[in-house]
Amino acid sequence: MIRDAPSLFVWSLSEQRLSSFDAFLEHYATTVVFYGSGKAALRDGLAGLVEPGQNVLIPAYLPDAVAEPFHDLGLEARYYAIQENLAPDLADIERRIDDETAAVMSVNYFGFPQPGLEEFVSLVDEYDCYHIDDNAHGPFSVDNGTLLGTRGSLGVTSLWKLLPIPNGAVLYCNDDDVVDRLEPSSFAGVSDRVTVSDCHFVLKSVLVDLLSANPTVRRSVTDLVTGRGRAPSIPNPADRYEADKVPMSKLSSHVVEDVNPSAIRDSRRSNYRAWRRIFDAVDDVEPLFESLPRGICPQVFPVRTPTPQRLLAELERCGVTGGHTWPRLSSTVTEDPAYEVSTNLAREVVVLPVHQHIDPSSIDAVGDRLRW
Ligand SMILES: Cc1ncc(COP(=O)(O)O)c(C=O)c1O
Repeated sequence: MIRDAPSLFVWSLSEQRLSSFDAFLEHYATTVVFYGSGKAALRDGLAGLVEPGQNVLIPAYLPDAVAEPFHDLGLEARYYAIQENLAPDLADIERRIDDETAAVMSVNYFGFPQPGLEEFVSLVDEYDCYHIDDNAHGPFSVDNGTLLGTRGSLGVTSLWKLLPIPNGAVLYCNDDDVVDRLEPSSFAGVSDRVTVSDCHFVLKSVLVDLLSANPTVRRSVTDLVTGRGRAPSIPNPADRYEADKVPMSKLSSHVVEDVNPSAIRDSRRSNYRAWRRIFDAVDDVEPLFESLPRGICPQVFPVRTPTPQRLLAELERCGVTGGHTWPRLSSTVTEDPAYEVSTNLAREVVVLPVHQHIDPSSIDAVGDRLRW
């Protein structure tokens, strides 16, 4: 079986702890602040730079809750269209940008560098706006010697998306103006004590490890917890944002201290290549990226298919849990034909796990079983 996330316990038992995350950050970034979530980091990074009533341009292909930190600061979150290759639609940005635009955000989707970045940066500079480098998906991706997330005036990355931790994100302040005007809130930094959520996370990790050994038990417990057959209810974006306005947990910081980014990057890249070998030979399922550039640490293996539900069902039959379409868009996007490209992508892009606790041979085995 291929699980959707790495295990806290596989981590603690086998990680060789060759280099520290602090050293990695020191090498690539100047000023960093830890948070519980990328959204909390975005809020604090911008707080000293903007006035209520201004607007921020963000790509339409984005999870709904990512607009919330901007709303929290009294800003309008104004979506711009993107192209099929995930590059920003510069003409659309120019149509929407105005004197009240404080910042424009780019996204390194799935840990890959934002396509079309050079032209995007020229445009943002021309209009004298801050550039937010959203690198939620790629904490360990280095592109031509630069850590993704450190290219804009400010950037964020979400450690919890790659590591077996309850929460954790980083704010990168990449220019002096941003550092000088930084206003860290009560949820900046690392919690000084182990909390109930840390304990829940550990218990849940134990349970998931036990259950993954027995798929039948796992299914019945999952059914029980989620209300058998009914989709679990998901809080609205504003509530999810409020819940994520916390410091990085003590458990997270303990695990993160000893993380070895290059070992994680190597194993994620091997798993990415294993999926690639399978889907290169499959019709109607196209890998989203043509190549895996050096230094890139993929968050997932994203593919595009006109039949996403069929693909997910077939993968589940082969023991792959946690594949899903990405992301849940805001209704502002889905209801506006100007964002048709993003809406189609969100319907057709399926992401598959490549995390560091998968052995590439188990992905090869999925290839042997897949009926497509
Ligand atoms: C592109 C992107 N940016 C920002 C975020 C927010 O990160 P976090 O969930 O750590 O707040 C997400 C979360 O899914 C994301 O996908």
